[in-house]
Amino acid sequence: MPAITFQQVCKTYPPTRQQRAQGKTGLRAVDDVSFQIEEGEFFGLLGPNGAGKTTLISMLAGLSRPTSGAISVRGFDVQTAYAEARRQLGIVPQELVFDPFFNVREALRIQSGYFGIRDNDAWIDELLQSLGLADKATANMRQLSGGMKRRVLVAQALVHKPPVIVLDEPTAGVDVELRQTLWQFIARLNKEGSTVLLTTHYLEEAEALCHRIAMLKQGRVIALDRTSELLRNAASNVLRFKTDGILPSALAAQARITGRIVQLPAQNAFEVERLLATLRQAGLAVEDVEMRKADLEDVFIDLMAGEQTPLEVAR
Ligand SMILES: Nc1ncnc2c1ncn2[C@@H]1O[C@H](COP(=O)(O)OP(=O)(O)OP(=O)(O)O)[C@@H](O)[C@H]1O
Ligand SMILES: [Mg+2]
Repeated sequence: MPAITFQQVCKTYPPTRQQRAQGKTGLRAVDDVSFQIEEGEFFGLLGPNGAGKTTLISMLAGLSRPTSGAISVRGFDVQTAYAEARRQLGIVPQELVFDPFFNVREALRIQSGYFGIRDNDAWIDELLQSLGLADKATANMRQLSGGMKRRVLVAQALVHKPPVIVLDEPTAGVDVELRQTLWQFIARLNKEGSTVLLTTHYLEEAEALCHRIAMLKQGRVIALDRTSELLRNAASNVLRFKTDGILPSALAAQARITGRIVQLPAQNAFEVERLLATLRQAGLAVEDVEMRKADLEDVFIDLMAGEQTPLEVAR
Protein backbone atom coordinates (compact mmCIF):
# COMPACT_ATOMS: atom_id res chain seq x y z
CA MET A 1 0.00 0.00 0.00
CA PRO A 2 1.35 3.46 -0.89
CA ALA A 3 2.32 5.79 1.96
CA ILE A 4 0.49 8.72 0.37
CA THR A 5 -2.02 8.85 -2.49
CA PHE A 6 -3.21 12.05 -4.16
CA GLN A 7 -6.12 11.37 -6.49
CA GLN A 8 -7.17 14.13 -8.88
CA VAL A 9 -6.85 16.70 -6.13
CA CYS A 10 -8.02 20.26 -6.85
CA LYS A 11 -8.16 23.24 -4.54
CA THR A 12 -9.76 26.51 -5.55
CA TYR A 13 -9.62 29.38 -3.11
CA PRO A 14 -12.72 31.55 -3.33
CA PRO A 15 -12.15 35.07 -4.63
CA THR A 16 -11.83 37.89 -2.13
CA ARG A 17 -14.56 40.52 -2.22
CA GLN A 18 -12.26 42.77 -4.20
CA GLN A 19 -11.45 40.02 -6.71
CA ARG A 20 -15.14 39.23 -7.11
CA ALA A 21 -15.82 42.89 -7.82
CA GLN A 22 -13.24 42.64 -10.61
CA GLY A 23 -15.14 39.70 -12.04
CA LYS A 24 -12.53 37.15 -10.98
CA THR A 25 -13.64 33.68 -10.06
CA GLY A 26 -10.96 32.45 -7.70
CA LEU A 27 -7.57 30.88 -7.67
CA ARG A 28 -6.92 27.26 -8.49
CA ALA A 29 -3.96 26.70 -6.19
CA VAL A 30 -3.87 22.94 -6.82
CA ASP A 31 -5.01 21.69 -10.19
CA ASP A 32 -5.75 18.00 -10.78
CA VAL A 33 -2.82 16.54 -8.89
CA SER A 34 -2.47 12.74 -8.89
CA PHE A 35 0.52 10.78 -7.69
CA GLN A 36 1.59 8.23 -5.12
CA ILE A 37 4.47 8.07 -2.72
CA GLU A 38 5.60 4.56 -1.85
CA GLU A 39 6.33 3.30 1.61
CA GLY A 40 9.96 4.06 2.53
CA GLU A 41 10.52 6.63 -0.22
CA PHE A 42 12.30 9.94 0.23
CA PHE A 43 10.17 12.14 -2.02
CA GLY A 44 10.72 15.76 -3.01
CA LEU A 45 7.97 18.23 -3.87
CA LEU A 46 9.51 21.24 -5.56
CA GLY A 47 8.15 24.39 -7.12
CA PRO A 48 8.46 28.16 -7.01
CA ASN A 49 6.69 30.38 -4.46
CA GLY A 50 2.95 30.00 -4.80
CA ALA A 51 3.12 26.73 -6.76
CA GLY A 52 0.74 25.04 -4.30
CA LYS A 53 3.11 22.94 -2.17
CA THR A 54 1.85 24.12 1.21
CA THR A 55 -1.77 23.96 0.01
CA LEU A 56 -1.22 20.32 -0.95
CA ILE A 57 0.37 19.58 2.43
CA SER A 58 -2.37 21.31 4.42
CA MET A 59 -4.95 19.15 2.63
CA LEU A 60 -2.82 16.09 3.37
CA ALA A 61 -2.77 17.13 7.04
CA GLY A 62 -6.56 17.45 7.00
CA LEU A 63 -6.31 21.17 7.78
CA SER A 64 -8.12 22.20 4.61
CA ARG A 65 -10.50 20.36 2.31
CA PRO A 66 -9.84 19.65 -1.33
CA THR A 67 -12.40 21.24 -3.66
CA SER A 68 -12.44 17.85 -5.35
CA GLY A 69 -10.42 14.66 -5.32
CA ALA A 70 -9.17 12.45 -2.51
CA ILE A 71 -6.05 12.00 -0.40
CA SER A 72 -5.11 9.00 1.71
CA VAL A 73 -2.25 8.12 4.02
CA ARG A 74 -1.39 4.41 4.25
CA GLY A 75 -4.92 3.63 3.12
CA PHE A 76 -6.68 6.05 5.48
CA ASP A 77 -8.68 8.78 3.76
CA VAL A 78 -7.67 12.10 5.30
CA GLN A 79 -11.30 13.19 5.54
CA THR A 80 -13.35 10.11 6.32
CA ALA A 81 -10.64 8.56 8.55
CA TYR A 82 -9.07 11.77 9.79
CA ALA A 83 -7.74 10.55 13.15
CA GLU A 84 -6.08 7.42 11.74
CA ALA A 85 -4.60 9.33 8.82
CA ARG A 86 -3.29 12.07 11.12
CA ARG A 87 -1.65 9.51 13.40
CA GLN A 88 0.41 8.22 10.47
CA LEU A 89 1.79 11.69 9.80
CA GLY A 90 4.45 13.84 11.38
CA ILE A 91 4.18 17.29 9.87
CA VAL A 92 6.73 20.08 10.16
CA PRO A 93 4.84 23.19 9.07
CA GLN A 94 6.36 26.00 7.05
CA GLU A 95 5.04 28.64 9.45
CA LEU A 96 6.61 28.88 12.91
CA VAL A 97 3.60 28.25 15.12
CA PHE A 98 4.06 27.42 18.79
CA ASP A 99 2.59 27.95 22.22
CA PRO A 100 4.65 30.60 24.02
CA PHE A 101 3.65 29.50 27.53
CA PHE A 102 5.58 26.25 27.69
CA ASN A 103 9.16 25.21 27.73
CA VAL A 104 10.54 22.85 25.11
CA ARG A 105 10.09 19.62 27.06
CA GLU A 106 6.59 20.59 28.15
CA ALA A 107 5.63 21.38 24.56
CA LEU A 108 6.85 17.95 23.46
CA ARG A 109 5.02 16.21 26.32
CA ILE A 110 1.80 18.01 25.45
CA GLN A 111 2.18 17.04 21.81
CA SER A 112 2.70 13.42 22.90
CA GLY A 113 -0.50 13.72 24.93
CA TYR A 114 -2.46 14.72 21.81
CA PHE A 115 -1.57 11.32 20.41
CA GLY A 116 -2.40 9.55 23.67
CA ILE A 117 1.22 8.75 24.46
CA ARG A 118 2.39 8.93 28.08
CA ASP A 119 5.89 8.40 29.50
CA ASN A 120 7.48 9.49 26.25
CA ASP A 121 10.57 11.03 27.85
CA ALA A 122 13.09 8.50 26.54
CA TRP A 123 12.12 9.31 22.94
CA ILE A 124 11.80 13.02 23.72
CA ASP A 125 15.38 12.95 25.07
CA GLU A 126 16.58 11.23 21.93
CA LEU A 127 14.83 13.84 19.77
CA LEU A 128 16.32 16.71 21.80
CA GLN A 129 19.76 15.12 21.53
CA SER A 130 19.52 14.41 17.79
CA LEU A 131 18.31 17.92 17.01
CA GLY A 132 20.86 19.73 19.14
CA LEU A 133 18.24 20.87 21.65
CA ALA A 134 19.46 19.01 24.74
CA ASP A 135 20.52 22.18 26.54
CA LYS A 136 17.25 23.94 25.63
CA ALA A 137 14.87 21.45 27.26
CA THR A 138 13.80 23.89 29.96
CA ALA A 139 14.00 27.04 27.84
CA ASN A 140 10.73 28.80 27.25
CA MET A 141 9.53 28.63 23.66
CA ARG A 142 9.43 32.40 23.28
CA GLN A 143 13.09 32.69 24.32
CA LEU A 144 14.28 30.58 21.42
CA SER A 145 15.81 31.92 18.22
CA GLY A 146 14.04 31.27 14.90
CA GLY A 147 16.28 28.34 14.01
CA MET A 148 15.81 26.80 17.48
CA LYS A 149 12.03 27.07 17.14
CA ARG A 150 12.29 25.30 13.82
CA ARG A 151 14.15 22.46 15.56
CA VAL A 152 11.38 22.21 18.16
CA LEU A 153 8.79 22.01 15.37
CA VAL A 154 10.72 19.08 13.90
CA ALA A 155 10.85 17.37 17.31
CA GLN A 156 7.14 18.04 17.81
CA ALA A 157 6.28 16.44 14.49
CA LEU A 158 8.17 13.30 15.47
CA VAL A 159 6.99 12.72 19.06
CA HIS A 160 4.61 9.94 18.06
CA LYS A 161 7.15 8.19 15.80
CA PRO A 162 5.04 8.68 12.68
CA PRO A 163 5.70 6.33 9.75
CA VAL A 164 5.25 9.22 7.28
CA ILE A 165 7.23 12.44 7.82
CA VAL A 166 6.25 15.61 5.97
CA LEU A 167 8.68 18.53 5.99
CA ASP A 168 7.53 21.86 4.52
CA GLU A 169 10.74 23.84 4.06
CA PRO A 170 12.31 22.59 7.28
CA THR A 171 15.64 24.26 6.58
CA ALA A 172 14.40 27.79 5.86
CA GLY A 173 16.34 30.07 8.19
CA VAL A 174 18.38 27.21 9.61
CA ASP A 175 22.16 27.35 9.89
CA VAL A 176 24.55 24.99 8.10
CA GLU A 177 25.28 22.93 11.18
CA LEU A 178 21.65 22.15 11.95
CA ARG A 179 20.93 21.46 8.29
CA GLN A 180 23.53 18.73 8.45
CA THR A 181 22.30 17.38 11.79
CA LEU A 182 18.72 17.47 10.60
CA TRP A 183 19.44 15.63 7.35
CA GLN A 184 21.52 13.00 9.11
CA PHE A 185 18.65 12.38 11.48
CA ILE A 186 15.91 12.35 8.83
CA ALA A 187 18.04 10.15 6.56
CA ARG A 188 18.46 7.71 9.45
CA LEU A 189 14.69 7.60 10.07
CA ASN A 190 14.20 7.04 6.32
CA LYS A 191 16.73 4.17 6.36
CA GLU A 192 14.84 2.67 9.28
CA GLY A 193 11.69 2.66 7.14
CA SER A 194 10.00 6.06 7.48
CA THR A 195 8.58 7.66 4.36
CA VAL A 196 9.64 11.28 3.86
CA LEU A 197 7.91 14.00 1.86
CA LEU A 198 10.06 17.11 1.61
CA THR A 199 9.52 20.53 0.12
CA THR A 200 12.51 22.83 -0.14
CA HIS A 201 13.92 25.68 -2.17
CA TYR A 202 17.42 24.28 -1.60
CA LEU A 203 17.65 22.18 -4.73
CA GLU A 204 21.03 20.81 -3.74
CA GLU A 205 19.41 19.24 -0.69
CA ALA A 206 16.65 17.75 -2.80
CA GLU A 207 19.16 16.41 -5.32
CA ALA A 208 21.22 14.79 -2.58
CA LEU A 209 18.34 13.32 -0.57
CA CYS A 210 15.31 12.55 -2.72
CA HIS A 211 14.76 9.28 -4.60
CA ARG A 212 11.97 10.82 -6.68
CA ILE A 213 10.89 14.38 -7.28
CA ALA A 214 7.65 16.03 -8.40
CA MET A 215 7.81 19.57 -9.73
CA LEU A 216 4.76 21.75 -9.28
CA LYS A 217 4.05 24.84 -11.31
CA GLN A 218 0.89 26.87 -10.81
CA GLY A 219 -0.79 23.98 -9.05
CA ARG A 220 0.07 21.33 -11.64
CA VAL A 221 2.61 18.54 -11.63
CA ILE A 222 4.77 19.31 -14.64
CA ALA A 223 7.43 16.67 -13.98
CA LEU A 224 7.67 13.59 -11.82
CA ASP A 225 10.52 11.14 -12.02
CA ARG A 226 13.46 9.55 -10.28
CA THR A 227 15.99 12.23 -9.44
CA SER A 228 18.59 10.49 -11.57
CA GLU A 229 16.23 10.47 -14.59
CA LEU A 230 15.42 14.16 -14.21
CA LEU A 231 19.14 14.89 -14.23
CA ARG A 232 19.81 12.57 -17.16
CA ASN A 233 17.13 14.19 -19.32
CA ALA A 234 18.43 17.67 -18.64
CA ALA A 235 20.74 19.58 -20.92
CA SER A 236 23.82 17.59 -20.06
CA ASN A 237 26.24 20.48 -19.68
CA VAL A 238 26.34 24.03 -18.45
CA LEU A 239 28.59 26.86 -19.60
CA ARG A 240 29.60 29.06 -16.69
CA PHE A 241 31.38 32.41 -16.89
CA LYS A 242 31.61 35.83 -15.29
CA THR A 243 30.67 39.09 -16.91
CA ASP A 244 29.86 42.70 -16.04
CA GLY A 245 27.77 43.16 -19.18
CA ILE A 246 24.05 42.76 -19.83
CA LEU A 247 23.10 39.50 -21.56
CA PRO A 248 21.13 39.64 -24.82
CA SER A 249 17.50 38.93 -23.86
CA ALA A 250 17.35 35.64 -25.79
CA LEU A 251 20.14 34.29 -23.60
CA ALA A 252 18.96 35.95 -20.39
CA ALA A 253 15.67 34.00 -20.59
CA GLN A 254 17.48 30.68 -20.14
CA ALA A 255 20.32 31.84 -17.92
CA ARG A 256 20.88 31.24 -14.24
CA ILE A 257 22.39 34.48 -12.95
CA THR A 258 24.01 35.00 -9.54
CA GLY A 259 25.65 38.41 -9.36
CA ARG A 260 28.38 38.37 -12.01
CA ILE A 261 28.14 34.62 -12.54
CA VAL A 262 26.13 33.48 -15.54
CA GLN A 263 25.27 29.85 -16.31
CA LEU A 264 23.74 28.70 -19.59
CA PRO A 265 22.69 25.23 -20.76
CA ALA A 266 24.85 23.88 -23.57
CA GLN A 267 24.48 20.34 -24.92
CA ASN A 268 27.74 20.09 -26.81
CA ALA A 269 30.81 21.87 -28.14
CA PHE A 270 28.86 23.29 -31.07
CA GLU A 271 26.40 25.00 -28.72
CA VAL A 272 29.22 26.31 -26.55
CA GLU A 273 30.79 27.84 -29.63
CA ARG A 274 27.48 29.36 -30.68
CA LEU A 275 26.89 30.86 -27.21
CA LEU A 276 30.37 32.36 -27.07
CA ALA A 277 29.91 33.82 -30.55
CA THR A 278 26.59 35.40 -29.51
CA LEU A 279 28.27 36.93 -26.45
CA ARG A 280 31.14 38.24 -28.55
CA GLN A 281 28.73 39.78 -31.06
CA ALA A 282 26.88 41.47 -28.18
CA GLY A 283 30.22 42.97 -27.16
CA LEU A 284 30.32 41.18 -23.81
CA ALA A 285 33.64 40.57 -22.10
CA VAL A 286 33.58 37.20 -20.34
CA GLU A 287 36.09 35.66 -17.97
CA ASP A 288 36.63 32.44 -15.96
CA VAL A 289 34.83 30.38 -18.59
CA GLU A 290 34.21 26.76 -17.60
CA MET A 291 31.92 23.79 -18.25
CA ARG A 292 30.14 21.63 -15.70
CA LYS A 293 27.46 18.93 -15.56
CA ALA A 294 23.84 20.09 -15.24
CA ASP A 295 22.37 19.85 -11.72
CA LEU A 296 18.84 19.86 -10.37
CA GLU A 297 18.65 23.64 -10.31
CA ASP A 298 19.30 23.71 -14.06
CA VAL A 299 16.53 21.16 -14.60
CA PHE A 300 14.20 23.19 -12.40
CA ILE A 301 14.88 26.48 -14.20
CA ASP A 302 14.46 24.79 -17.56
CA LEU A 303 11.09 23.26 -16.60
CA MET A 304 9.76 26.41 -14.96
CA ALA A 305 10.66 28.51 -17.99
CA GLY A 306 8.34 26.33 -20.08
CA GLU A 307 4.83 27.18 -21.17
CA GLN A 308 2.58 29.20 -18.88
CA THR A 309 -0.55 27.54 -17.58
CA PRO A 310 -3.71 29.51 -16.81
CA LEU A 311 -4.02 30.47 -13.15
CA GLU A 312 -7.48 32.00 -13.01
CA VAL A 313 -10.31 29.57 -13.38
CA ALA A 314 -13.54 30.16 -15.15
CA ARG A 315 -14.79 26.62 -14.68
N1 LIG B 1 -5.82 30.72 2.52
C1 LIG B 1 -5.63 31.13 1.27
N2 LIG B 1 -6.55 31.90 0.63
C2 LIG B 1 -6.41 32.29 -0.63
N3 LIG B 1 -5.33 31.99 -1.39
C3 LIG B 1 -4.37 31.24 -0.83
C4 LIG B 1 -4.46 30.77 0.52
N4 LIG B 1 -3.35 30.05 0.81
C5 LIG B 1 -2.60 30.06 -0.31
N5 LIG B 1 -3.19 30.77 -1.28
C6 LIG B 1 -2.70 30.96 -2.66
O1 LIG B 1 -2.53 29.67 -3.25
C7 LIG B 1 -1.35 29.62 -4.04
C8 LIG B 1 -0.46 28.51 -3.55
O2 LIG B 1 0.07 28.86 -2.29
P1 LIG B 1 0.97 27.88 -1.43
O3 LIG B 1 1.18 28.47 -0.10
O4 LIG B 1 0.39 26.52 -1.49
O5 LIG B 1 2.34 27.90 -2.29
P2 LIG B 1 3.75 27.24 -1.97
O6 LIG B 1 4.09 26.38 -3.14
O7 LIG B 1 3.74 26.59 -0.64
O8 LIG B 1 4.72 28.49 -1.98
P3 LIG B 1 6.03 28.85 -1.09
O9 LIG B 1 7.20 28.23 -1.79
O10 LIG B 1 6.08 30.33 -1.14
O11 LIG B 1 5.81 28.32 0.28
C9 LIG B 1 -0.73 31.01 -3.96
O12 LIG B 1 -1.13 31.72 -5.08
C10 LIG B 1 -1.34 31.58 -2.69
O13 LIG B 1 -1.42 32.98 -2.77
MG1 LIG C 1 4.77 26.88 1.06
